[in-house]
Parts: sequence; structure tokens; C-alpha cells
Amino acid sequence: MNYYVLTLFPEMIRQAAGTSILGRAIRGGRIQVHTVNIRDYSVNKHMRVDDYPYGGGAGMVMEAEPVCRAIEAAERETGQGTRVVYLTPQGKVLNQTVVEELAGEENLILLCGHYEGIDERVLEEKVTDYISIGDYVLTGGELGALVLIDAVSRFVPGVLSNEESAQFESLQDNLLEYPHYTRPEEWRRKKVPEVLLSGDHRRIEEWRREKSLERTRERRPDLLERSFQVTGGWFGGENCGVLVRSLTDAVSRYGSCLDLNRKKIRRQGRVFGERELLILGLDPEAETPEDGRPWRNLRGRGTPLVLVFPKAGQEPPAAEEMEKQGFRVLTVFSGSLQKLSEETREYAIQIRKNLENL
Ligand SMILES: C[S@@+](CC[C@H](N)C(=O)[O-])C[C@H]1O[C@@H](n2cnc3c(N)ncnc32)[C@H](O)[C@@H]1O
Repeated sequence: MNYYVLTLFPEMIRQAAGTSILGRAIRGGRIQVHTVNIRDYSVNKHMRVDDYPYGGGAGMVMEAEPVCRAIEAAERETGQGTRVVYLTPQGKVLNQTVVEELAGEENLILLCGHYEGIDERVLEEKVTDYISIGDYVLTGGELGALVLIDAVSRFVPGVLSNEESAQFESLQDNLLEYPHYTRPEEWRRKKVPEVLLSGDHRRIEEWRREKSLERTRERRPDLLERSFQVTGGWFGGENCGVLVRSLTDAVSRYGSCLDLNRKKIRRQGRVFGERELLILGLDPEAETPEDGRPWRNLRGRGTPLVLVFPKAGQEPPAAEEMEKQGFRVLTVFSGSLQKLSEETREYAIQIRKNLENL
């Protein structure tokens, strides 16, 4: 991943990005952080890049031309079509889904404003994404750019070591993470919860899920409202099952599974609620069982549904019926099994974005 940070204070970026995990990632060639000094593109003999605002009022505004030239200089390195992110309190607040999505890019141009901001015309012309790092106002975009670089780089392969990396962390599925403990077992009369010492992985997982929900309910009830309980269901060959399970795991740490190859499960069926998501994978090679279509006993209550059909150029057969059974089809992923398996992460991000918009 190559970042091009357009700033009036390049040393601020270089210093912060050169230390700790980011510094290691730069030295190891996993990421590159280039700085472009906007002042170098000043069109003024005093190297000024700001001027008074039209219409009066306090503060100065960064001029369009130097900003535009600085962006074009970065574009000459990255090629056209690179996303240009303006860090601004007026942007979409950065979250883990956006972070993961940006991590899929090869190059990112990050524009840092100062003073009252930047002439609107160059923003209209060049900026593709407006991102805020929170609902407060900073003196400049540099800290925002660094926050974005830090969060995005964690998803760049090789940036985190095995010990540091984690498939899921707080927020990825709109849940805060469970509490962590390390040695000693007892510290100032406070003991590590007994379950964590039990070695029983199923109980530990249950405990973590419970704590995760409890913590989110207490600290971020707004997140919980946006959280979905995810179930991956499939019918057909093992490959289809593996695909659905990996997609389910990529969308939610606590997803559960429904194997519709099992007659009992098909007969029992299930009713899904509004805050649930069903990812249903149907193997195109599988024949309809004697007891009828495998999804016939699945009912939704406006439940979002993702259909996965590992066959190129064809729509899955279930879409219409599932709509009648109370689901609303959010997305259909069809294509070769190989393509779907390779792009699981991109699909998971797409699903999370769709859920955010519900
Ligand atoms: C003082 S701010 C300008 C704020 C602007 N007058 C407004 O009300 O939207 C200067 C620069 O800091 C950066 N900045 C301020 N708050 C930010 C935030 N919450 N997230 C990202 N960047 C921010 C932006 O690049 C902005 O151009």
C-alpha cells in the first residue's frame, strides 16, 4: 500500500509514521508513506498557499491551485483513478468497514487541510472521498491522515505479526470486543474469570460472546442497534459449505451455521428476525431433495438475505420464493466457485456496507 499525504507539515507525518508498527512496516517495505508538501506547489512568489475568504469572515482558506497541483503530482506517481481522500470534519466518520474497504486499494492520496479549510472548487474537481475521524474539529488534517494510515495498514498483509493480528476486533461486526486478561492469575485480589482457565473452548467462546454483547449494550448501545446476528446456510456439496462458512466468518465473529443437506434441519426450518442476516449458499449441481426445495421452511420477517450461487452467469433459483417467504434480497453473489472463494473478503465488506445502509 502506498500513501501519498498532501500536507503543509510533512515532518509531522514522517515523524509519526516512522515509529512503532508503522515504522516497522515502512522499513519492511509493506507500506510506503510519501509526503507531498503543498507549499512546493504555491503559485505565489512568497510561497503562500492561503488567502482571505470571499464574503469575509475569520480565518484563511487554502487556495485551489497549489492543492490541485499537489494532487496532480501524486497522481503522476499513482496513475489516474486513485482515490483522493480529503480529511475533514464534514466527511463520513471513519469506521472499521471503511477502513477495510480502503485497505483494498493499492494507492491512496490523503489531503490534509488547514486554517478554515480548502477552496471548494478543487475539492469538487478532485476529491473522491470525504472522511472525518470523529465529530470534533482538529487544527489540521495530519492527525486524521495518520489515524487513517494506522487503521488501514493493519489490514495490509505482513504489517501485523501473527501475535498482533486478529481476524476480528472491536467494531468489525458492530460489537465491542470482550475483556482481556494476562498473567498473573490473581492481581490485587482480582481473579481472572474462571472460564478462561478452563481450557473448554466452547465455553470460552460463549463467555466471550456474552461479554461482548453486555459490553456493547452498556457502552455503545447505538452499535448494538446496527448489529446483525448472522447465519450461514447452505445446500449441496462441501465446497459450497466451505464458501458460505468463510463468508459468514468474515461478516461476523459469532455467526452460526445451518446445513440444509440435513433432512431434519430442512424439516424443522427456522424463522429469522429483522435484525438477523441469512447468507444462503446453493450449490448449482445439487439436485432438489424428495422433500422439496431445501429453503421452503425458512421464514423471514423482513430479514436481509444474501444469496450465494457458485456458478458463473446464472442467478440462484431461490430469490423470488425467499422474497415471498419474508426475506429481502440484499445481494446475490454468483460466479465461479474459485472467484467467489478468492474474493470472500471483498464480499464481506460489501455485505457490511449494505447492512449499514438498511
Ligand atoms: C480547523 S479545520 C477546518 C474546519 C472547517 N472550517 C469546517 O468547519 O469544516 C482545518 C482542517 O483540519 C482537518 N480536520 C479538522 N477536523 C477534522 C476531523 N474531525 N477529521 C478529519 N480532519 C479534520 C481538515 O483537513 C480541515 O481542513
